[in-house]
Amino acid sequence: MHMPSLRTKILPLVIFVLSLAVLPASPQEHKPAGHWMNASLSPDERAALVVKEMTLDEKISLLHGTGMVGLSPMSPLSVKSNGGAGYVVGIPRLGIPAIQISDAAYGVRQSGENGRYSTALPANVAGAASWDLDAAYEYGALIARELRAQGYNMSLGGGVNLTREPRNGRTFEYMGEDPILAGKMVGQVMRGEQAEHVIGDIKHYALNDQESGRNAVNVNIDKRSMRESDLLAFEIGLRESNAAAVMCSYNRVHGDYACDNQYLLTDVLKKDWNFKGFVVSDWQATHSTAKASAAGLDHEEPGEIFYGDAMKKAVESGKVPMAEVDDHVHRILRSMFASGVVDDPPQKSVVDVIGGFEVAQNIEEQSIVLLRNEHAQLPLDASRASSIAVIGAHSDVGMISGGGSAQVDPPGGNAIMPPGQGRTFWQAHIWFPTSPLKAIRAQAPHANVQYDPGTDAAAAVALAKKADVAIVFAYQWESEGMDLENLSLPERQDDLIAKVAAANPHTIVVLETGSPVTMPWADQVSGILEAWYGGSRGADAVARVLFGEVNPSAKLPITFPKSDADLPHPSIVKPPRKSTTNGGSDEWKIIAAGLPAFQITYDEGLKVGYKWYDAEHKQVLFPFGYGLSYTTYNYSDLKVTPGKSVRVSFKVTNTGNRAGAEVAEVYAALPQSAGEPAKRLVGWSKVKLNAGESKEVAIDVDPEYLSIFDVESNGWQLIPGSYELMVGGSSQSLPLKETVNLK
Ligand code: BGC
Repeated sequence: MHMPSLRTKILPLVIFVLSLAVLPASPQEHKPAGHWMNASLSPDERAALVVKEMTLDEKISLLHGTGMVGLSPMSPLSVKSNGGAGYVVGIPRLGIPAIQISDAAYGVRQSGENGRYSTALPANVAGAASWDLDAAYEYGALIARELRAQGYNMSLGGGVNLTREPRNGRTFEYMGEDPILAGKMVGQVMRGEQAEHVIGDIKHYALNDQESGRNAVNVNIDKRSMRESDLLAFEIGLRESNAAAVMCSYNRVHGDYACDNQYLLTDVLKKDWNFKGFVVSDWQATHSTAKASAAGLDHEEPGEIFYGDAMKKAVESGKVPMAEVDDHVHRILRSMFASGVVDDPPQKSVVDVIGGFEVAQNIEEQSIVLLRNEHAQLPLDASRASSIAVIGAHSDVGMISGGGSAQVDPPGGNAIMPPGQGRTFWQAHIWFPTSPLKAIRAQAPHANVQYDPGTDAAAAVALAKKADVAIVFAYQWESEGMDLENLSLPERQDDLIAKVAAANPHTIVVLETGSPVTMPWADQVSGILEAWYGGSRGADAVARVLFGEVNPSAKLPITFPKSDADLPHPSIVKPPRKSTTNGGSDEWKIIAAGLPAFQITYDEGLKVGYKWYDAEHKQVLFPFGYGLSYTTYNYSDLKVTPGKSVRVSFKVTNTGNRAGAEVAEVYAALPQSAGEPAKRLVGWSKVKLNAGESKEVAIDVDPEYLSIFDVESNGWQLIPGSYELMVGGSSQSLPLKETVNLK
């Protein structure tokens, strides 16, 4: 959540003075106590022992945060916060530490204002483009190491809302349009985080698919579609990782706010999926006490409007049963034990900056998608290009990053402002100081590499005309709290690219975007790279791909349509005026009370992303799962063996003359009677192959991935009949096919 400047200066002082009267002189947060400290007991046994010892006040203190400046009233206890988005007091007398929570989507947030350092990884959507489970694990592990070094023990990351609406301003924070890809990738990120003893959190549950009117909107969608798409991503993510926390989202679903929603929180999450962790509300997404508690919300953030005194009164008057409170508390405590934050509390320490940069660069190198490469324009040969024009998007100094609560502060400040400007501000465009110009010069030390800002197309064209190769950097910024009007590049960049391409037949476009963009010039340029938001070392990764030190291996986790008109909805539904707030000092009260609903109906249902374009027979610009390489691959020898899980085996051969890694994708078409979209991704493997090498690949397909969700019996069902399994390098290039009967 953003923090208006309101009260920022005076409030902390007032709180500090107040706190002196409230706090014990030297609280001992981690003092061991009781036999729940016996680590050989299970997390549930340990939690149950603690709950028995707790007073009602202590229980309630675990059910809420202590406030966030400008968002809700602040508790005097908030002075002990580590400076992150949330702080939950511990129970020192029982040896239960505080929960120090930070946003950490693609790196740890708020380092600037806290005088710390954190690495920016490539945006989450980029991570998904790697299709690399090990990279995703390392993504999470790096975030967790840096959280712990800064004194945090809980992360808010793990965004996995499916891209139903690519104009959503948070598309960069999510993992694309396919539930199995997104679910498995977010699961790995969470596994990486929790292995480092940080409480992981998956968000925003559920269907918070646009930012416009997010505190008011009511989402309508049929149950089967949500279970098979949007919710499936969460289901898989949780199953793969046992992430300890789930954040319920701002919006309403079927009439109830997500954090008041019995179906989402209890029926599905806690019963059907057997989720043992706790549900935390998004910041200011709690709207009630008894209703939310009964629906399954365990913890309110950031403050205590509904889960503080109001909860105590509700318990005392019998409106909320003590057993319900005990369950909330048990879930929080068992998550703390299970994730290791009690036995191994974080120690503030030095962040491994150099190591972080290397991980960030490595992941970006696996995430850059080569979209077009006419006449093998790429990789560039440094010994042959004597002049290179580098144009646009501040590529002399930096690369853009995604904004909002995901924002990571760059060391040295924003690259397009004087250095050292300190913290970043809500929705400022933040350019990381990773210079494509410098990185290209380093790759081609003997070439004459010149820069033009691209603000005057005529000047850019003049430079491009004189050069052997023109590389145009183009960007589309996005952030929490806004949506894109459309998928076009802003600031006349389409015009710039078209003009440069007309002037130089060797024009390469490098995109820095968080969503797909339309490309009216696509046929006129010789190369296109999608670099996403590339993180702390984006420029080095891009340059290494451009010059062939890295062979691109990423594939799109999201379809790039030809035009906005091809999307399921012509435009984002905007809230009527009464469903918005004015951002004044009473905003938190208005939001807590609940804004009048407006409706969004996802009537495309199951047809999310590629499933939509398939069904509508719409040609796309670049399909889901697509991405080129500097080598070529051949697929052969498909064998499909039905069994408990269906085994799909085949051979992939690198038929070119350089080493590479191919994401081999498996799709299934279900029997017609299932009433499903034409095909769905059911598995993949990223296969490393030397030039000329072949490998056998075997993928066991989870039967759930071949099933449909049957609403009547409330369960997954494999429809007996004939299934076509298809294998290849993109959702639209599937040379191997075999049909099997499954029962
Ligand atoms: C965002 C969450 C974030 C929280 C805390 C909210 O506005 O939706 O993703 O974790 O704020 O900053």
